Amino acid sequence: MLRKIFVTNALPYANGDIHLGHLVGYIQADIWVRFQRMRGNTVHYVCADDTHGTPVMLRAEKEGLTPEALIARVHGEHLRDFTGFGIAFDHYYTTHSEETRRYAEDIYAKLRAKGLIEERAIEQFYDPAKEMFLPDRFIKGECPKCGAADQYGDNCESCGAAYAPTELKNPRSAISGAIPVPRESEHYFFRLSDKRAAAFLREWTGGEARPGVRRLPPEAANKMREWLGEEGENKLSDWDISRDAPYFGFEIPGAPGKYFYVWLDAPVGYLASFRHLADTRGNIQVEDYIDAGKAAAAGTEMLHFIGKDILYFHALFWPAMLEFAGYRTPSQLCVNGFLTVNGMKMSKSRGTFITARSWLDQKLDPETLRYYFAGKSNGSMEDVDLNLDDLIARVNADLVGKFVNIASRCAGFIGKRFDGRLGEIDPAATEAFTAAWAADEIAAAFEAREYSRALREIMRLADLANQYINDHKPWELARQPGKDAELLRVCSTALTLFRDLARYLKPVLPALAAQVEAFLAIAPLDWHGPWQALPAGHRIEPYRHLAARIERAQIDALLEANRGSLAPASAAAPATADIADDAATAAAAAAPTISIDDFAKVDLRVARIVEARHVEGAGKLLRLLLDIGEEKPRQVFAGIKSAYNPETLAGRLTVMVANLAPRKMKFGLSEGMVLAASDPDGKNGGIHLLSPDSGAMPGMKIK
Ligand code: MSP
Ligand code: ZN
Repeated sequence: MLRKIFVTNALPYANGDIHLGHLVGYIQADIWVRFQRMRGNTVHYVCADDTHGTPVMLRAEKEGLTPEALIARVHGEHLRDFTGFGIAFDHYYTTHSEETRRYAEDIYAKLRAKGLIEERAIEQFYDPAKEMFLPDRFIKGECPKCGAADQYGDNCESCGAAYAPTELKNPRSAISGAIPVPRESEHYFFRLSDKRAAAFLREWTGGEARPGVRRLPPEAANKMREWLGEEGENKLSDWDISRDAPYFGFEIPGAPGKYFYVWLDAPVGYLASFRHLADTRGNIQVEDYIDAGKAAAAGTEMLHFIGKDILYFHALFWPAMLEFAGYRTPSQLCVNGFLTVNGMKMSKSRGTFITARSWLDQKLDPETLRYYFAGKSNGSMEDVDLNLDDLIARVNADLVGKFVNIASRCAGFIGKRFDGRLGEIDPAATEAFTAAWAADEIAAAFEAREYSRALREIMRLADLANQYINDHKPWELARQPGKDAELLRVCSTALTLFRDLARYLKPVLPALAAQVEAFLAIAPLDWHGPWQALPAGHRIEPYRHLAARIERAQIDALLEANRGSLAPASAAAPATADIADDAATAAAAAAPTISIDDFAKVDLRVARIVEARHVEGAGKLLRLLLDIGEEKPRQVFAGIKSAYNPETLAGRLTVMVANLAPRKMKFGLSEGMVLAASDPDGKNGGIHLLSPDSGAMPGMKIK
């Protein structure tokens, strides 16, 4: 039976740029949506900007704009970035909309009617200069536990302690610098402590999205059990859903000067965006997806793709709000982990806080990032690491080396020798593919959001296709007289396999798949109905280049473009290369031969550059800390300053000589040497550090 699915992505805040961390979850959702549609299912896929709250209000003020003007600008930027990465929402709306207001008021009224809203006075910090209550994040002071200075009002970044802002020592308003004073104010609470809430949430948590599929990933279900406590225990606290003026948001009906807290109306934005889409299109039965009774009757689904940091809001507050207001509750939460770059938190100074826009501006293909993130998606909440060397290696090896290679090796013959017309195919060669088609192994992996498993299987098939070409050598057939029929059959077969690979890759690489459809002159590829060969006599278009390799220089430029406010690397640095101490004396001419035993004396290791810094007073050296799997990283002084900006090196893999006698230098002990290539006379652009292929780990021995 075909499915009817309402899919959302978390709504990004309207006060910042989209960065690669955000894109993890958006790309995962977009792949899933495209896959479902190829299978013939109906999907409505929406998102919006999350526009309300204090940060947006203050940012607008700082820029001299009204909040409305700020969110209008950011909306354009966000939509442009998502579109640039092929994320194709049916509608990208805003929470600052009449639909959001209507649904928020409706839900609030129904919760009230059920006795689930309570008014209570609480004491909060107030900024007497700015004349407003301060959110925790806008209060700074010394940590009550460890004394670290300049810590936020909710937790300490130095020792990790969590506390109330009133516990901070010497608190200050981060807005005005004034000393905040405690002040009382009436707040509205959603009574999550009510027995009905915990009972409902316990049942919802244990439920299934559809037969055999858990509603929550196991890690999230565990968290829920922790938050909910044992049966009979009442661990949930009431949730403060109001904020005092001045606030950018919706005023609470019947409560002048009180506003809905941004997290109350944010998820309501899912419904609002969908409603707006339906009102515009006119042919979508929204109620079948969001009304509790109608959704049950219609068998529709509602899935939210979110990051792990906002699980609390989506697994506790949101389902409870919906349930007690008579709306359908989420069928499933699809939760992604956090992005690290080169094994570390994204950092502005390292240039790894990479914006979506900069990627597009550098003319890097957005689909390479989709491919890489897909290869890292296994359906779990684990964090995802973007290793930039690995990205280059995977894209170049898989997409260019394996996939595109099939077409580029065969298409020319069809064009030149057969007037662009295909012939009969070789049924034996397509068997593995048609079997996979029948087995739906790849489809099952997409369905479970285990895209890494899907891609592994697809690349296995690509290997088979390349093997078929290697076995039949069309380039040799083309040179032999009387082999035309065989040449035509081999190339037609390979292109049929290529078509199927494009089909499987299409959810991940929609633009590349569209190019393949144009090249093969076929209708948009879908993924249902019986398998069919490309018919004999079918005419294809001339082959044009489909995908380019990524070069390390492009990635370096990307990091450079994202480096905070730091000065650009000194372009005028002298190009003379003196690699790690004295290696520069190596001549370009081949050295005298050595025995394998001589070579074996050199202990070469894969090393991760943990840290790279300038050395005060050294014109050519950088100080590197190298991880080769030892307890402590090694310190090495390398003469690569003229060619590398230290900020771009951290996290990279390279190769080091681990058993070079340590050498005492003016700046400290050098405990090894990194390997790099260069011309002895400094031609051809300086120094090039070596990098191992993807998959290598620090400490691996090189022989
Ligand atoms: N506005 C809220 C969501 C409201 S949903 C009703 C929000 N916005 S956000 O801009 O901070 O994040 C948007 C999405 O990106 C969230 O799913 C969040 O988890 C995700 N990520 C933000 N930074 C991320 C990484 N560094 N890595 C992976 N996902 C990240 O939260
Ligand atoms: Zn502390």
